[in-house]
Amino acid sequence: MLTVFNHPLITHKLALMRDKNTSTKDFAQQLDEIAGLMAFEVSRDLPTKPKFVETPMGPCNTMELAQDVVLVPILRAGLGMVDGIRDLIPTAKVGFIGMFRHEDTLEPEEYFAKFPNMSEATVMVLDPMLATGGSASAAITKIKERGAKNIKLVCLVGVPEGVKKIEEDHPDVDIYLAALDEKLNEIGYIVPGLGDAGDRIFGTK
Ligand code: PRP
Ligand code: URA
Repeated sequence: MLTVFNHPLITHKLALMRDKNTSTKDFAQQLDEIAGLMAFEVSRDLPTKPKFVETPMGPCNTMELAQDVVLVPILRAGLGMVDGIRDLIPTAKVGFIGMFRHEDTLEPEEYFAKFPNMSEATVMVLDPMLATGGSASAAITKIKERGAKNIKLVCLVGVPEGVKKIEEDHPDVDIYLAALDEKLNEIGYIVPGLGDAGDRIFGTK
């Protein structure tokens, strides 16, 4: 399932991120805020279980989250989405996977992985950019090998090529995008996109 948000607040903040004149600080802040807004919707179908509490007025049968939420940012750029989602889901645990996309081949290479137990959790894989889909697909494969069964891919900007790759490799994974852009250029960058997300978040280059 693909969900593209097209929400005025998200589009407004994303427009600031797309602007090449936006500073590193403002870019990172908008990413954080968009991630939080997206998480609200991504978490809509989280499983709940009954909970009993006493309110000041008396007994109340209500609900609480039934399972762990695990966030897995794809390093580096996915790191920029963690705090915004943790503001909303403070109990979320965090795993990490490092993926480097080779400039020439565009093939992903894993350089780091560390995960909490994911077997009973809803796992949100985070990366601002879904370009060829190679990095996200490889990350999801690894996360499945480590026991995750319920996985959602949360990206900011994607293109049809990347969506197709995930749908083919991982048809069980729901994909969430703030925007679906037109295409990849000849060097594998999203057009119009927002440039190199990792460099813009961390001020490299
Ligand atoms: C970027 C981005 C994704 C990947 C997307 O990371 O954050 O992880 O490229 O491209 P793909 O869909 O074609 O695989 P990059 O490899 O530049 O690393 P960085 O986050 O450290 O900058
Ligand atoms: N990675 C990025 O950071 N930006 C793109 O447009 C494509 C891959």
